[in-house]
Amino acid sequence: MSEVATPQPQDVAKPLSQSAAFLVLTIDETEEAMRTARSVVASTDDLVKNVRIRAADNFFSCNVGIGHRVWDRLTGKPAPKELRPFSEIKGAKHTAVATPGDLLFHIRADNMGLIVEFEKILLEAFGAAATAVDDVAGFRYFDARDLLEFVDGTANASGPDAEHDTIVGSEDPAYAGGSYVVTQKYLHNLGDWRSQSTETQEAIIGRTKFDNLELPDAGADEQKAHKTLCTIEDEDGEHDILRDNMPFANPGKGEYGTYFIGYSRYLWVIERMLERMFIGAPPPLHDRILDFSTAVTGSTFFVPARQFIADLDG
Ligand code: HEM
Repeated sequence: MSEVATPQPQDVAKPLSQSAAFLVLTIDETEEAMRTARSVVASTDDLVKNVRIRAADNFFSCNVGIGHRVWDRLTGKPAPKELRPFSEIKGAKHTAVATPGDLLFHIRADNMGLIVEFEKILLEAFGAAATAVDDVAGFRYFDARDLLEFVDGTANASGPDAEHDTIVGSEDPAYAGGSYVVTQKYLHNLGDWRSQSTETQEAIIGRTKFDNLELPDAGADEQKAHKTLCTIEDEDGEHDILRDNMPFANPGKGEYGTYFIGYSRYLWVIERMLERMFIGAPPPLHDRILDFSTAVTGSTFFVPARQFIADLDG
């Protein structure tokens, strides 16, 4: 029997870019707004082409994610198997909040001018049909560091492994080629973080700061580092995700943050990571990154295969 080819995914497993924007929209309740949104989402690839041709190096990409609240009305199809709203996770000390978001546009380029140009054209096309509830401009900080000054993204898989970790396959044939994505905007308390010794910071992250080497894991009942809390293993082995976190900042307002974005073949894997970070493993030993970083948003989307998006307006 011949294997059915997986539909072409959006640009999920792309290398890190110099700049990115994370644009989250909600769609108005009216049928007309839903129609407009459907048609704009379906035309995303064309809008991307209009901008990409103007980029000297041609590097421009935009992934579109659709949230649970509007899935049925926007697509007219049953939802992907695991798609559900981001659900708040309340630990003893820290909370992963859930915030509204019907559409996510994850826009990447090496030039912020192109990103702004694309967002302008896109938002004009939506008009009153959608409201931007969040729009974060991310930048690359030195050697891929976050604003806690650690190299961020090292453990990400690349090439075929990255596809295997992020792209839905035969477990949900109607949505093969798609990917679950979770986003959270974190604000850092840099003053408190910088008052910690380098050794304490390294123990919190689980890697050395200067040269990015992995430190040994803590024992079963001990306080675990961030990298250990985010390692999910079961009888099927380790379940990895793909992160494309970006620092963002507004120094004049004292705002320094990390925009977390994780793509995964299985939504439960990211949910399990969040439970381990916020509730602790074992509870109440939460991820100490949270003592210096507050999650102010939290949303879940599904990024369907490229053709599914193009066919929405069919
Ligand atoms: C690893 C930073 C939030 C999942 C790391 C590393 C850093 C980091 C510096 C080590 C280097 C690397 O492998 O990338 C941050 C910051 C966050 C944040 C600053 C927000 C304040 C999250 C969240 C998740 C997550 C919310 C998942 C829900 C992971 C995973 C790894 C990792 C899977 C790799 C673990 C391994 O070594 O296999 N993060 N992270 N991170 N983080 Fe985060």
